[in-house]
Amino acid sequence: MDDRQRYDRATAALEPPFAVVDLAALRANAADLVRRAAGKPIRVASKSIRSRPLLERILAMGGFRGVMAYTLPEALWLARNGLTDILVAYPTADRQALAALAGDTRAAAEITVTVDSAAHLDHIEAAVSEVRPRAELRLCLDLDAAFVAFGRRAGALRSPIREPHEAAELAAAIAKRPGLRLAGLLAYEAQIAGVGDAPPSNAARARLIRVMQSLSARELIVRRGRVVNAVRQLADLEFVNGGGTGSVDLTTREKAVTELAAGSGFFHPRLFDFYRRFTGRPAALFALPVVRRPAAGTVTVLGGGYLASGPVGPARAPQPYLPAGLRYAPEEGAGEVQTPLLGQAAQDLRIGDRVWFRHAKAGELCEHFDALHLIDGDTVTESVPTYRGEGRTFL
Ligand SMILES: Cc1ncc(COP(=O)(O)O)c(C=O)c1O
Repeated sequence: MDDRQRYDRATAALEPPFAVVDLAALRANAADLVRRAAGKPIRVASKSIRSRPLLERILAMGGFRGVMAYTLPEALWLARNGLTDILVAYPTADRQALAALAGDTRAAAEITVTVDSAAHLDHIEAAVSEVRPRAELRLCLDLDAAFVAFGRRAGALRSPIREPHEAAELAAAIAKRPGLRLAGLLAYEAQIAGVGDAPPSNAARARLIRVMQSLSARELIVRRGRVVNAVRQLADLEFVNGGGTGSVDLTTREKAVTELAAGSGFFHPRLFDFYRRFTGRPAALFALPVVRRPAAGTVTVLGGGYLASGPVGPARAPQPYLPAGLRYAPEEGAGEVQTPLLGQAAQDLRIGDRVWFRHAKAGELCEHFDALHLIDGDTVTESVPTYRGEGRTFL
């Protein structure tokens, strides 16, 4: 039985649109991440999962430790539901959530919030001053891990802190403020972890990416090491987090890094097909029903316009995956309520048949569905709620 037959059979009782996770693929992807991390623990990026029960399942597999959350309200919700060791990896300006954190000793022991400037410290202090904080707040210093050369920059625009003296200055400022404690350091090299080094049919671009990534890795190993040394003079760092799905095998080699992060690698969405060092298995899919056949060689499915965030372009559209050989109509793309699909494979599709898609990214898929149906072999063994299915939309 091929994957399409297996998925069709497992979900025969469900009416599309719906989303599924192939557990065998998920387990294989998780095991490969653990292998590539070579002994260091991986913090699980919740933005790429967005389902509490699935997050818990992944954390129960060996090799993973802690959650990398994306908002403080999310982290508070996870902590109150029993998850532990949660790093909010993006700064928060949410005064109410900061006040709630400071007033909740148990949550404050499990949650670390990210800062990159004295302005963040001021904001946090102002937010918690209104509640007479009961708990010390754990902070993580975010370091800019981008590559800068020849007046150009590759990588995410995150922290303004790049150099050891800048990090030391912020660490010293934290040490002076009662109620705040520096517990960790974070440096995410998006230009390596999130940029495939084997872009399709573009050899010149591939060469450029590989040169940039290798220079960047060499620069970062030195700078990250120096920054961590400088900060360790001033604070007892419990963790130094780095990397992402595309780089765990490289980042783990750095002595200064104590743990990795990964999220996308579990679902292995479309954008992660273009790396040389690993190949994952598509684990999260959504099914849309064929609702009409407007012309020969064309079918139309319901919905489909689940576009991914990031620089706008065709790479952000979902991939029509099974049956293979379907493509978008250029003038319509993936539509809001209907999506025409062209190609040889359309000939054999009838009203009510399913077309299986992959999202370009990982967790954003879950903002469109209440549940993920978990497929083991050719059966749905369980259906678990997404964040949205639990009535939670954090972003
Ligand atoms: C701080 C941080 N670490 C790691 C990652 C890597 O996540 P993924 O494994 O999904 O590429 C991200 C993704 O944006 C991130 O923001």
